[in-house]
Amino acid sequence: MSYDANDKFNVEHNAKPETEFETEPEIEFETEPEIEFETELLKLLELRASGMPLQYILGEWDFYGLTFRLGEGVLIPRPETEKLVDVVLEHIKENKSPMVLDLCAGTGCIGITIAKLLPFSKVFSIEKSTVAYEYIKHNIALHKVDNVSVFLGDVITGCNHFVENDRLKFDVIVSNPPYIPTFELDDLQVEVKFEPKMALDGGKDGLIFYRAIKDRWLSHLKEDGTLVMECGETQGDEIVSMFSEEGFIANCDFDFAGIKRVVRVIRQKGSNYSS
Ligand SMILES: C[S@@+](CC[C@H](N)C(=O)[O-])C[C@H]1O[C@@H](n2cnc3c(N)ncnc32)[C@H](O)[C@@H]1O
Repeated sequence: MSYDANDKFNVEHNAKPETEFETEPEIEFETEPEIEFETELLKLLELRASGMPLQYILGEWDFYGLTFRLGEGVLIPRPETEKLVDVVLEHIKENKSPMVLDLCAGTGCIGITIAKLLPFSKVFSIEKSTVAYEYIKHNIALHKVDNVSVFLGDVITGCNHFVENDRLKFDVIVSNPPYIPTFELDDLQVEVKFEPKMALDGGKDGLIFYRAIKDRWLSHLKEDGTLVMECGETQGDEIVSMFSEEGFIANCDFDFAGIKRVVRVIRQKGSNYSS
């Protein structure tokens, strides 16, 4: 028996018969779009690894079953805020054409959702940030709601349109204002630090917006109208007292996680509150 070097090679390396190597195996080169996609994906992964919230990377997020466009410079809608919409809808479900005022509107998620679900409502949204203001306009167009009017204005110092129209009254005023005390902002988790400080900072004790709403906006609430506001988990009782001391009926509801989250204030019929 002769000894062939190739045979030895085939046996030792369990290689396939030589004939199968006659044609070169095809090497699959990545196409340009594939390389671009991988580079882009890598960039997005790096952003996520740096702590950027997924919602900013995606450029959209869902709220109450609707998708809202968003990006850096505007607050990401939170699931607990959906409870505000529930409370508002419950209050105005019998009303054929409710007037709703959404203060500190952000992406516009609260006001636009109400407007979409109640096409005969008239919603006014106020926001101070120009970035958020652009997103609200975009989301209004996206959801094709023609019953939302948006105003660039300041809830604390006053918004001209409403100062000049003090007879403009609402069945519901709803707000998810900034409510984190300033000193807590540095300790927030890394994702939240990507969100605009303006959307989070509720002043020294976190309550500056609730005082402003009480002093400046309650005069725009109809008799029997309701004010619905989100608050931080330790703030509910203090905000309730703030409003009850002025003669309003106020209470605080729990959110889906069992946290005191939604303050509800009712302006009773016959109350002579007029500030
Ligand atoms: C907590 S975020 C809520 C946003 C939105 N309503 C939501 O629930 O997702 C508060 C919003 O208030 C806006 N804001 C801050 N200061 C304001 C002011 N003085 N007047 C009006 N809006 C203000 C911020 O830009 C931010 O969009």
